[in-house]
Amino acid sequence: MRPSLSTVALSVTLIITFLALSTPDLTSAQRIAAALEHITVLGTNDLHSASSKGRFLHKTLIRTAGETPHAHKGRFWVDFHDAFTNTDRATFEKVVATHPGLEIRHEFWESLNAVSIEVADDEGVLQELVRSVPGIRLIEPVILRQAPKVAESSFKVSMEAVHQKLLPKVSSHDITGVLEVHEKLGLYGKGIKVGIIDTGIDYTHPALGGCFGEGCKVAFGANFVDVKNGEKPSDDVMDCHGHGTHVAGIVAANDTSFIGVAPQATLGAYRVFGCEPGTGNDIIIKAMIRAVEDGMDVINMSLGGPGGWREEREARVIDLLTRNSTSIFVMAMGNEGSLGAFEAASPGVSQSAITVASMEAEYLSGYYFTVDPALKGASVGAHVKKTKAARQILYTGVRDVDFSKNLVQLSPGTSGLISRDGCSAINQNVRGKIVLVRRGDCTFDEKTANVQEAGGTAVIFMDNVPNSQSFAVSLTKNFTIKYMAVNMADGEYLLRTIRANNAETQGIKLVHGAGPASVRNMNSMFMSGFTSLGPDNQLFAKPDITAPGGNIWSTIPVKMGKYATLSGTSMASPYIAGCVALYLEGHPGASNATSRTLSAIRTAFQNSARPRPNQIGYKGYASVVQQGSGLINLWYAFNNPAIASPETLALNDTANMQTQHLHISNTGKEALTYKVDIIPAAGLVPFHKNMSVNVTPAKIVARPNSVKISQRMVTVAPGGNATVDMTFAGPNTDPKLYALYSGYVRLTPQNAMSADDTTMPPPPVLHVPYVGMQGQYHDVPVFDMSFGLQVVNKRGVPITRSSRVHRDSVLVHLVKARLPEHSPISNEGEGRKSELLDSDIFVVFKLLTGARVLVVDLVAPSGSDPRQVESFGVLKGGVSTYVPRTDAQKGNTMQVLPWNGEVMSVDGKRHVAIPRGRDYRMRISLLKHFGDLRKDEDFETFLSKPS
Ligand SMILES: *[C@@H]1O[C@H](CO)[C@@H](O)[C@H](O)[C@H]1NC(C)=O
Ligand SMILES: *[C@@H]1O[C@H](CO)[C@@H](O)[C@H](O)[C@H]1NC(C)=O
Ligand SMILES: *[C@@H]1O[C@H](CO)[C@@H](O)[C@H](O)[C@H]1NC(C)=O
Ligand SMILES: *[C@@H]1O[C@H](CO)[C@@H](O)[C@H](O)[C@H]1NC(C)=O
Ligand SMILES: *[C@@H]1O[C@H](CO)[C@@H](O)[C@H](O)[C@H]1NC(C)=O
Repeated sequence: MRPSLSTVALSVTLIITFLALSTPDLTSAQRIAAALEHITVLGTNDLHSASSKGRFLHKTLIRTAGETPHAHKGRFWVDFHDAFTNTDRATFEKVVATHPGLEIRHEFWESLNAVSIEVADDEGVLQELVRSVPGIRLIEPVILRQAPKVAESSFKVSMEAVHQKLLPKVSSHDITGVLEVHEKLGLYGKGIKVGIIDTGIDYTHPALGGCFGEGCKVAFGANFVDVKNGEKPSDDVMDCHGHGTHVAGIVAANDTSFIGVAPQATLGAYRVFGCEPGTGNDIIIKAMIRAVEDGMDVINMSLGGPGGWREEREARVIDLLTRNSTSIFVMAMGNEGSLGAFEAASPGVSQSAITVASMEAEYLSGYYFTVDPALKGASVGAHVKKTKAARQILYTGVRDVDFSKNLVQLSPGTSGLISRDGCSAINQNVRGKIVLVRRGDCTFDEKTANVQEAGGTAVIFMDNVPNSQSFAVSLTKNFTIKYMAVNMADGEYLLRTIRANNAETQGIKLVHGAGPASVRNMNSMFMSGFTSLGPDNQLFAKPDITAPGGNIWSTIPVKMGKYATLSGTSMASPYIAGCVALYLEGHPGASNATSRTLSAIRTAFQNSARPRPNQIGYKGYASVVQQGSGLINLWYAFNNPAIASPETLALNDTANMQTQHLHISNTGKEALTYKVDIIPAAGLVPFHKNMSVNVTPAKIVARPNSVKISQRMVTVAPGGNATVDMTFAGPNTDPKLYALYSGYVRLTPQNAMSADDTTMPPPPVLHVPYVGMQGQYHDVPVFDMSFGLQVVNKRGVPITRSSRVHRDSVLVHLVKARLPEHSPISNEGEGRKSELLDSDIFVVFKLLTGARVLVVDLVAPSGSDPRQVESFGVLKGGVSTYVPRTDAQKGNTMQVLPWNGEVMSVDGKRHVAIPRGRDYRMRISLLKHFGDLRKDEDFETFLSKPS
């Protein structure tokens, strides 16, 4: 007999005495194993942005839906057992239908045997669902994903190169081998479909075909963005954010000023983000499945969130889709380069994707203007003597300035150091003029307001720092006049030109450039500072490969100005997606099916990539943890007659290191001989001595102590294979540093090309990255002991009798949790919109590293062995698996588990309130890295201390 939901009271009336709940005879591991087995409803600890201790929670508690919590409030995944029948499904649907607060959001019956649901008010209904419907395997929150933030880049320009007349190098195709693939092989992506899961695409952009649907460049697509008030979602995939259009241009634009990597590819626009970034992973997964169903050959996902686990839901779906289809997923690694190692984003962490890191573009492109060539001095700038070309002045800011108006300056003189320029009311007549204003002494808003008040039509801000790189201006107020920014050298040039032409009053004429101009990027070809560092939480290597992603010129929606230079791994990922399209076009036909798999393509790309050096702090190669195999070289990938696999050697930690076997197969027609050697890259120290995250991991020399290589010279017959065995000994670094060391196995071809075959390029040098940890990862704490386990009330004030910190014991920050006598949680009926606001108690902690299993339970006030104390049950929402680590900053700074005073019954099927007014303690148990769930000693356990 299954009680249907309507016959079961929903309020918390099932109060059992707490004694019946206690399970004192179980060991810690048994208790946790039981919890994992029985508890169907998993919690995801809400992640909040808050930076200081003390009353830190106050502000974050009153959060609105627009903020960035990790879990999507009120949305859950429901996974069913394989044996779930149609009858069970009917029961499920009936139960949902009979409860007004429950709604099915998205259905994945065929693909995943799962649905996502929305719970309008009391999440306690989930327990009822589990009891009423047989066959529910798991319920866990839908996770919110953000479109990675991109900012308009401020120009960082190498001054000596600024004013050389450079050919526009808008795309980076000459440094990635794409140019040769275009020109020598004539491949442009024709017939290949690239799906873009993003904010939509402005298909009206002329560079993106100008239309949507059959016969257009953007021929496929669907809109998955939720609409309010039950409206039918519009099918329009128009981009109102900008991100997706920029990504699409990198893949496939065909423009007068630049072309994408695969300008003849067909695009699919799968719109999962609206104008506001942030969407549930149910919607993202829906889009992924649809893109595969539409037959997208390549699927780009420039999105993600905190992750690090390949077992995480989207990553598992990608595994499944990759096994089941020929679609190749390409992902961004993430833009958290300032947060230290172990930052592989989810779903970028997926083992079934090509995950892309970002390098700075060689050249930086932007809009520019010149002064009227008829003016005195127009081509006389110190920098342009040789070329006689008009000086191109790159600018940031808005693009629709009316250049028919003359430019005047505000203060006299040419020194950029004049102070308070434009900071007070302007007496001079600037009506109808563009006004040059120096930066400094007051806000851009004040300066703009003064120019607007005086009747100017636009402001050009010039930097006040000599040798400046230009800068991006952001105004907080709504002005009618336009603004731009130029660097100081260009500003001085404009001032000199005004003086040379005695044009202080009438001003000089400017001419807007016809397209983008390019200057050398100061950080040209180095890894981007923002690119996230791996490896994943189990020491698998991520990212896989690098592409240009820093300072990338591409399309944005027509309404937003048509073009922009943006930076992010969001920009690097579509570059590789475009390369996959070209590779597929160049390897057609069923007989080549094996060369078209994810593994084959990733191997081909990684083998032939080129490792990049670091820019600062280390002279050698950047860590594999930062760049994977290095910069893509697609031309080499096309001309590589050998396959070296596995494509990355994950050496693991010192306790789990094994001999590596590198297989080399020769797909060519001539025998190949390679010299095998090892080139080390930077070692990284991921933690401080006190075991807190080092957000800028120290770069150290961490050369493997030795590498025994079975053959230093290996010859592979045409069509044949060879295996090289390699036994690594880690570097001589202190094992307590847990240094991440890495580098490359280099295979240098020894063949002289045969004299009669001059048409074939020589086989490229191959690189196979390796990465390992020197030390035992098992010993790296999961729990952040420098923060401890805190239990606080609604206002963020610790609920504790003793705030003493016991630094040198594991019982750090012990907290005595006392439930209030009168708890509002027994209130029934009231619409409980926010669980946070309804909760009395918040368990707060940080994770130094990701946690595979995390359990918080309520235990007796006495007893000193954390593993033996009496337990009253696991907190509601107190079980999570595959939890991302806490970041040092940004919206993921601590784990907050709101608690309403209920624990889960031993069978995991109901929540029971515990008696009020007694003393309790909290206990947190975390499975250690590579730990065994069955072993007590493989858990880190922390307890509140009896007072
Ligand atoms: C780009 O578009 C132009 C105009 O339609 C066309 O002539 C050219 O072949 C296209 N370029 C590529 C690489 O497809
Ligand atoms: C996916 O693979 C499974 C098992 O290999 C198979 O049963 C199923 O039909 C496949 N689904 C699709 C959509 O190909
Ligand atoms: C800014 O001004 C424009 C045009 O007057 C108006 O449409 C817009 O709503 C204003 N925005 C704000 C934030 O005031
Ligand atoms: C490292 O070893 C552990 C323990 O055997 C294993 O669970 C983990 O998957 C390994 N990681 C890699 C990258 O091989
Ligand atoms: C298969 O791939 C090889 C090497 O890339 C190529 O030479 C050959 O033409 C391909 N065969 C077919 C049927 O496409």
